[in-house]
Amino acid sequence: MTLQNKHILIGITGGIAAYKICTLIRDFKKSGAEVKVICTPNSLNFVTKLTLQNLSQNEVYIQEFDVKNWKPEHISLADWADIMLIAPATANTISKIAQGIADNLLTSVACAFSKKIIIAPAMNVNMWNNPSVQANLKTLHKRGIEYLPPENGFLACGYVAKGRLCSLEKIYNAVEEALNYSDSLKGKKVVITSGGTIEEIDPVRYISNYSSGKMGLALAKSAYDMGAEVVLISTKDFDCPFKLVKVKSALDMQKAVVEEYNSTDYIIMAAAVADYRIKNFSKQKIKKGLEETITLEFVKNPDILAELSNKKSENEIKPIIVGFCAESENLIENAREKIARKGCDYLVANDISRKDIGFGSDENEVTILNKNGEIKKLEKASKNVIAREILEWISTK
Ligand code: PMT
Repeated sequence: MTLQNKHILIGITGGIAAYKICTLIRDFKKSGAEVKVICTPNSLNFVTKLTLQNLSQNEVYIQEFDVKNWKPEHISLADWADIMLIAPATANTISKIAQGIADNLLTSVACAFSKKIIIAPAMNVNMWNNPSVQANLKTLHKRGIEYLPPENGFLACGYVAKGRLCSLEKIYNAVEEALNYSDSLKGKKVVITSGGTIEEIDPVRYISNYSSGKMGLALAKSAYDMGAEVVLISTKDFDCPFKLVKVKSALDMQKAVVEEYNSTDYIIMAAAVADYRIKNFSKQKIKKGLEETITLEFVKNPDILAELSNKKSENEIKPIIVGFCAESENLIENAREKIARKGCDYLVANDISRKDIGFGSDENEVTILNKNGEIKKLEKASKNVIAREILEWISTK
């Protein structure tokens, strides 16, 4: 991945974390990027124009009507940039952008910006928890603006709580990742499943598994960033700029996936689907009796992945069907057996016996297998990076 010759537009708003952005500008410049900075007037209480000008080696933009050529500044800056990063982003600026308010140069550029925007909020914990701020962030996220949540720690206002700017490394990586997406999925439809299915026992109890839905969400986000139309079929709720179909059980998931089958180019099954469900769902809460043990009877769930793969005939190219395989031992051996048995085009194997990857974690390490016996190992990385590498491999092979 590279930032060489990329145009990064940084918007700095009025928060104490503004001083940290000086280091970030230097890091971007060192990597060969061109950087321009827009400051809100309030941000200049925390950093000086001269510092930012020196570090970015460019003029610093503040006033909306400081027009130097025929094109208004907010349009020429928006046209110039490959990406816009707003860091730190205050509650005020987040809320204004969410409502389409364009009352200074930064918010006007954000309003006119049609490429990727990443925001890194930083504020007092009570401001962060304010329902209006949360609702506005949700709105932005739904529209495709990525935000990097603040972290817990010492806040300038004296609190030790959530609100401090996330690490500069996280911001740098997010910008680098966003600028290095290929558009190999442009015009394609990608259906992804995520989360653990919920098999109800009675109105208050169920069986499920530890899947958090993070891997599926990372795949969905990456596919979206690579230009695809995305449908995420998930047992978990997420705010996302693409279609989300919320499901509960394996049977619900099967119905939702089958509905998409004919119109999609890719189906990626990252969900952990229960192999069995309760045979007799009890409509009433099962009462505690005198028995020391009770027995629940299960019936087999459909194997959605195998059924979809069987449905696709030999000479059909579409949809490309990708399964995931969660193994706690003999990863490759079991994965080879599974891809042969289920008949999917690709199988992504991950070791779920490890605590640092797989279920619930933010990172993963996987091996992709295809039908011809080819294997590609992806070294441990964030689920976002793994997701992009999987999609790049299956969309260019
Ligand atoms: O959600 P996270 O916390 O981020 O964790 C990610 C993950 C570990 C859940 C994910 O990376 C993963 O491995 N998902 C597959 C889990 C699983 O169910 O593996 P399996 O080996 O039991 O099933 C193999 C494949 O068949 C899977 O694609 C599964 O979706 C599918 N399957 C399984 C059973 C069934 N009845 N129907 C299916 O379609």
